[in-house]
Amino acid sequence: MKIVISAGPTRERIDAVRFITNFSTGKMGYALASAAVDAGHQVILISGPTTLPAPEGVEIIRIESAAEMAEAVHAAVIGADAVIMASAVADYRPVVKLDRKMKKKVGNLTIELERTEDILATLGKNKDRNCILVGFAAETDDLLENARVKLERKNLDWIVANDISATGIGFGSDNNAVTLISRDHRLIELEADSKIKIAQRILELVLENIKA
Ligand code: CTP
Repeated sequence: MKIVISAGPTRERIDAVRFITNFSTGKMGYALASAAVDAGHQVILISGPTTLPAPEGVEIIRIESAAEMAEAVHAAVIGADAVIMASAVADYRPVVKLDRKMKKKVGNLTIELERTEDILATLGKNKDRNCILVGFAAETDDLLENARVKLERKNLDWIVANDISATGIGFGSDNNAVTLISRDHRLIELEADSKIKIAQRILELVLENIKA
């Protein structure tokens, strides 16, 4: 099967030396890409800036901003059997991006931000019946409720709910514990384990109804 996976943060430039980003390290998305290649699939990994080496056998496309991730994902999904968005895409970017370094002035600074594209919502809106859509919901509050809302709003087949307020799992950690929710209201808890084990289980579950 052809599987498209996104991973890592995005960077939204403010000027020549500064950007807005988040704490995603890409570990969960890279673990999914490794697990998918090991299971014999063709994998395109669209990655924001990370320090991780590309998993062997994966076609990697490195991007920086949410706009670049959107362009790469929309090109890669053609003919894909599944898309798993494990990246932490910036929801906002500076309206103005300066090519040179901004110099400080007296007083406060306000930077105006505009919305980026919600890539997964666009994919959900134009949903191809033959392509499984999987999102991640990184939440600090009301985990399952927020995840269910995202599943519906983005028209997904599965959402992986990730409690980023819990210690020892989530951003930067080698371990994770997640709850998967399906379009048909299945709820599957994966207890704390290495991200690679969690990745293998997520793949088994989301791909189980697709014929090779
Ligand atoms: N996502 C995306 N494009 C964006 C933002 C998010 O494709 N511009 C995807 C993420 O990759 C993830 C899912 O949508 O798979 C949910 O991301 P999350 O940041 O948890 O939710 P948001 O939709 O951004 O909502 P909020 O920030 O309000 O929680």
